[in-house]
Amino acid sequence: MWYARLAMSERIVTMITAEAIAERVAELGKQIQHDHKGEPVVLICVLKGSFVFAADLARAIDLPLRIDFLGTRSYGEGTESSGVVQITQDLSKPINGEHVIVVEDIVDTGLTIAHLIDLLRTRNPLSVKVCSLLHKPARAKVQVTVDYLGFTIEDKFVVGYGLDFAERYRNLPYIGVVEHA
Ligand code: IMP
Repeated sequence: MWYARLAMSERIVTMITAEAIAERVAELGKQIQHDHKGEPVVLICVLKGSFVFAADLARAIDLPLRIDFLGTRSYGEGTESSGVVQITQDLSKPINGEHVIVVEDIVDTGLTIAHLIDLLRTRNPLSVKVCSLLHKPARAKVQVTVDYLGFTIEDKFVVGYGLDFAERYRNLPYIGVVEHA
């Protein structure tokens, strides 16, 4: 039993195991490393959901690398996108002249990442790429290119490995689906 479970009426069904995530993150790191050929990169961790993924991904990339954090809020306490992307914390340094990789937990409607790409491009980076652990193509409202993708998943609300449901379950080591009794 996993004790992150707080509400007795909820249970988590595993969708992607911790082992499968670790294997895929290692592959993504190698791919990023190969594509950037020794060039320095900036990983932009989109808070809060990407913090676990970004921490593992950073350690899978052997390149000169710095990490910065961008706080966004697109959901309230429920599971439906509000469609409004709010920046709650900006980057600590400029990114002009740098290769940027935005690290996302999940691309769902695509509204958040589309907004962030537009915002970051105004700051004159050398390039902006997207690395997302998960992608739910069934829910897309805007087309976005995910340059590095962990897993494509079906249209289910998932938690764990940084992703939350009303701020809970971020500490699950795997990705699961919340089932309500
Ligand atoms: P989008 O703007 O609809 O693409 O959603 C982006 C953000 O919504 C993600 O970075 C997550 O924080 C959150 N989100 C979307 N789908 C899920 C989900 O299935 N579980 C948890 N959070 C989600």
